[in-house]
Amino acid sequence: MYGKRLLIGKLADWRLRPLTGADCAPLLRLTADLAAFFSPEEVAVAGELMTERLLRGAASGYEFLVAEHDRTPVAYTCYGAIPATEGRFDLYWIVVSPRLRGQGLGRGLLRATEEDIRTRLGGLRLYAQTSSRAAYADTHAFYHAMGYRLVATLEDYYRTGDGQRIYVRDLDQAPGRSAESSSGRV
Ligand SMILES: CC(C)(COP(=O)(O)OP(=O)(O)OC[C@H]1O[C@@H](n2cnc3c(N)ncnc32)[C@H](O)[C@@H]1OP(=O)(O)O)[C@@H](O)C(=O)NCCC(=O)NCCS
Repeated sequence: MYGKRLLIGKLADWRLRPLTGADCAPLLRLTADLAAFFSPEEVAVAGELMTERLLRGAASGYEFLVAEHDRTPVAYTCYGAIPATEGRFDLYWIVVSPRLRGQGLGRGLLRATEEDIRTRLGGLRLYAQTSSRAAYADTHAFYHAMGYRLVATLEDYYRTGDGQRIYVRDLDQAPGRSAESSSGRV
């Protein structure tokens, strides 16, 4: 998968690769620019996970997939096994550059992440947690379109009025028609 050119949706020219040290500054800038989505504390956590991965490799428990376009990192996922579970994984982060949204990048990146978890890491199920705030309506639509089930909402989880939505997808299930549009191919 790594290094392979992909033709996905409307944005044809992008490729996936592992995280490198040079990615940290641009990816953290990208994350920090999404102030409506991520607090400074959350951006700091993203930076810590990148550092952990670069220092300790797979032993860190954090996996990253980076999407590059025009030789620039423009999107990434961070994910890892949930300790003491059987094949359960958490999607810690998925971020796509605002200027490239709606072009199938998130779909391709998430499908590639699922494939990596399923085939290389032996994962069976992927969880994604996100805020219940209205600002995340597009994110909710994205997970729904990707075939994720909303299995729980924890009211006031992050702070009063800001709950946590927990989405899940079983990775052995083929994408259904409603979950896969004609533009997504990985
Ligand atoms: C959520 C996010 C990753 C989606 O990335 P994207 O590249 O814009 O998504 P895609 O273009 O691949 O869309 C895939 C599908 O999701 C759905 N979708 C995406 N954006 C949507 C929107 N704004 N409204 C409705 N549906 C949407 C669509 O069904 C779309 O498929 P289609 O275009 O073939 O119909 C991106 O918007 C993002 O980075 N958001 C901010 C960070 C975030 O919320 N991360 C997740 C929480 S940690």
